[in-house]
Amino acid sequence: MPQKSTARIGILTAGGDCPGLNAAIRGVSKAAMHYGMSVVGIRDGFRGLVENRTMPIDNPLVSGILTQGGTFLGSSRDRPHKMKVNGKTVDMTAAAVRTYKRLKLDCLVCLGGNGTQKSALALHQNGGINVLTLPKTIDNDVAETDITFGFDSAMAIATEAIDRLHTTATSHQRIIVCEIMGHDAGWLCLGAGIAGGADVILIPEIPYDLAAVARHLARRHRAGKRFSIVAVAEGIVSVEEAAARAGAGGKLSSLRKAPSHLEAFSSPGSEAVRLVQEPVASRIARQLQSLTGTEARVTSLGHVQRGGSPTPFDRLLCTRFGTKAAELIAKGRSNVMVALKGNECVPVALEKVAGRKRTVPPDHAWVQTARLTETCLGVD
Ligand code: F6P
Repeated sequence: MPQKSTARIGILTAGGDCPGLNAAIRGVSKAAMHYGMSVVGIRDGFRGLVENRTMPIDNPLVSGILTQGGTFLGSSRDRPHKMKVNGKTVDMTAAAVRTYKRLKLDCLVCLGGNGTQKSALALHQNGGINVLTLPKTIDNDVAETDITFGFDSAMAIATEAIDRLHTTATSHQRIIVCEIMGHDAGWLCLGAGIAGGADVILIPEIPYDLAAVARHLARRHRAGKRFSIVAVAEGIVSVEEAAARAGAGGKLSSLRKAPSHLEAFSSPGSEAVRLVQEPVASRIARQLQSLTGTEARVTSLGHVQRGGSPTPFDRLLCTRFGTKAAELIAKGRSNVMVALKGNECVPVALEKVAGRKRTVPPDHAWVQTARLTETCLGVD
């Protein structure tokens, strides 16, 4: 156990929220106070750091929040080195460092996904401040950790949704296509798809051939199966799109944001443009209905997957991650991410994490598990 520490730490939550953030804030704060440290909360992610929006954190504030969804600190997708200010993208690293110094911090704890890991490392390298991160995202795509917090909760929600879709799909003899988040990684769709017994699982890492999917559904029909559940990850690409992407030098995002899938709304006099993307599942359902002649329906789970209370697994993981973070800081460690490796919470150098994504290896055990249970993964 480390000695007592007089360190003063800041804590912020950045990127998309997820169940478990409050549990992790609680874990960091309670353990930090146990070691004698003081804790300051930074509001709304890196934007709050740049704009000096802070709040004191004491023991009563972090009591009773273990089970609460969201983040009481607020979050944003802003990055200090590329921040939108009055419509322009500006490097606000100096302002972020000013707040850190004004608060007399010894370390800034950043809870977030891949963008946050990069921003934290940039603050350390370019701003000279001490940072420590925890891996948070429902996408489970942060490098150097076996799992991110938030993933298990989102997987439980998506699995329950697939369970519920089964009963209505059976009753109406339909194909139901269910879209699951995950950005460009298939972990959430694959995990929930296997746990929910989806008949087809499409993930970004395995480009799909819709004709192969239709053949699988036809075989099910001939075998007397009266329904099919198709779980699709939001980042999927067809074999044709994957070939075009390879030709375009690997630019996946330009394909995913094809104009036909987007509607843009802007209000006169305002620079704000909101993009609303049609669920990719709608396109898949339309095409499967026409290829198979079976009625199809669509469910896009969207932000439901990021809401509500964390699972017991995530509560435990967040508490372990949070307390480990405080223990490391009390020992004078920083500029690392706390990762889960096997059953141990360990520090990993941020340089090994930032800028790397952990997607599903095509030969991963879960892929094999799905194949061995007659699940179509989008190819014959
Ligand atoms: O990274 C988490 C995530 O939920 C992704 O799965 C999804 O692509 C994205 O965030 C959605 O972001 P936003 O809430 O900003 O629309």
